[in-house]
Amino acid sequence: MKSPYVTKDNDSVSDDVVWHKSTVTHEQRAKQKQQTPVALWFTGLSGSGKSTVANAVESKLLSLGKHSYLLDGDNVRHGLNKDLSFSDTDRVENIRRIGEVAKLFVDSGIIVLTAFISPFIADREQARTLLSTGGFLEVFIDTPLPVCELRDPKGLYKKARAGEINNFTGIDSIYEAPVSADIHVETEGKSVENCAEEIINQLSKLGYI
Ligand code: ADX
Repeated sequence: MKSPYVTKDNDSVSDDVVWHKSTVTHEQRAKQKQQTPVALWFTGLSGSGKSTVANAVESKLLSLGKHSYLLDGDNVRHGLNKDLSFSDTDRVENIRRIGEVAKLFVDSGIIVLTAFISPFIADREQARTLLSTGGFLEVFIDTPLPVCELRDPKGLYKKARAGEINNFTGIDSIYEAPVSADIHVETEGKSVENCAEEIINQLSKLGYI
């Protein structure tokens, strides 16, 4: 199979921007790190546990000697994506940029974990397409809305219900749950540790670690 990282169709705004091939390849970077690079794309409602579970998974990967990096929605919105709101259009752009960043990380040989609500199926599929077969695993952190709302770790559901925040996912903005996620974790009644273990076990079963 041709690696998606060596060439690129010219989809720049200008024909004068020409793709420059790297001397060091994706395969060499992966081999040096002795791992299978992949994007673990966490999706779920706000307060579902995406960031917490992704952090626990990253710690486990570290202790297994894996090279990883976690891109977290709230954090990325303080920097790279600080110009984006929570309108549908800006959420699409948020996820488009993260898909591209995740692709760079995977190309560099890293296991990248992304923890974004990423509410739209089409955008998650777009990220999957960017990363190609095997380079993308959708991880559904499945916590029902009433449970997220009860947890309300940042008090945002309360604000959304009071009308102080607009376009809040699950309240007045849509969340399209995955239909067949690569890894599906139902978090209710489970500890963070259990959820992280489930994901590590699945990664092992699928041959990634
Ligand atoms: S996404 O929908 O564009 O993927 P992202 O994961 O980057 O969202 O950011 C979600 C985080 O932003 C939430 O966990 C929450 O802390 C915060 N947030 C602030 N306003 C909103 C909102 N209107 N809807 C959802 N999350 C919000």
